[in-house]
Amino acid sequence: MLVTTRKMLDDARDGGYAIGAFNAENAEMVWAIVRAADELRAPVIIQTTSSTLKYFSPEMFAGMVKAEAQKTDVPVALHLDHGSSYELCCACIAAGYTSVMIDGSALPFEENIAVSKKVADYAKSFGVPVEAELGRVGGKEDDVVGVDDQYTDPKEAVEFVERTGVSSLAIGIGTAHGIYKVAPKLDLDRAADIRKVVSIPLVMHGASGLADEVMQEGVRKGIAKINFATELRVAFSEAVKAYLEKDPKVFDPKKYGTPAREAVKELVKQKMTVCGCNGKA
Ligand code: 13P
Ligand code: ZN
Ligand code: NA
Repeated sequence: MLVTTRKMLDDARDGGYAIGAFNAENAEMVWAIVRAADELRAPVIIQTTSSTLKYFSPEMFAGMVKAEAQKTDVPVALHLDHGSSYELCCACIAAGYTSVMIDGSALPFEENIAVSKKVADYAKSFGVPVEAELGRVGGKEDDVVGVDDQYTDPKEAVEFVERTGVSSLAIGIGTAHGIYKVAPKLDLDRAADIRKVVSIPLVMHGASGLADEVMQEGVRKGIAKINFATELRVAFSEAVKAYLEKDPKVFDPKKYGTPAREAVKELVKQKMTVCGCNGKA
């Protein structure tokens, strides 16, 4: 069942668990994420980044996700991850996305507020929730190059949420996109401090490479959505490579697509269990 992210995130915040948000790059990954959600009775968010949408259009993802979501009664949302512009957010809403993120985190505070509010005002008339980001996630998510020491200030978070009217907030607590080359300097207590003064659901980005206990600690401190991308891409690609090595003469994409989508499905199920969203649908 295709739904927005609003109720699932509010329920997660109130219920002390997190919704897993999984980045899809192709039909196999969409298939795998919905199957995992159905098998574990978990509400789920499928998300695509701005650069993924240069590869396949928002209409293609909306079509695939709608078709798969219809086959299950668990809540499935389609979300734009790290939306790079107001225009892209509008295009995704027009295509049928049920949630969007506008990432103005690289902008000065006032400009981040302006663009986030503009998207929130527009999305409101469509009933589409908006995630924004304050502070920075390190590493590289597509074209977004992170910087160090950009932890979200709780006071600024309060002002940001009040002035923009966004529905959820990605916060800087030391996590980074990609697999960690050096141990991250996490500040999970900051999530708890923000949670005390901000009522909308809080989002942890950059979960690939984090230990299960770290994510669970984050959930206890008030995180209601956790984003997973790199580990899914690795699982998919490793399974394809393993198949091609075993059978280099293969030419049917279904042959290596099958173990690849199974590998993604199993990984998504494992991450859902860590988030605690299994059995919540
Ligand atoms: P990872 O690639 O570290 O899983 O980060 C995912 C993310 O934050 C997507 O927005
Ligand atoms: Zn991210
Ligand atoms: Na990461």
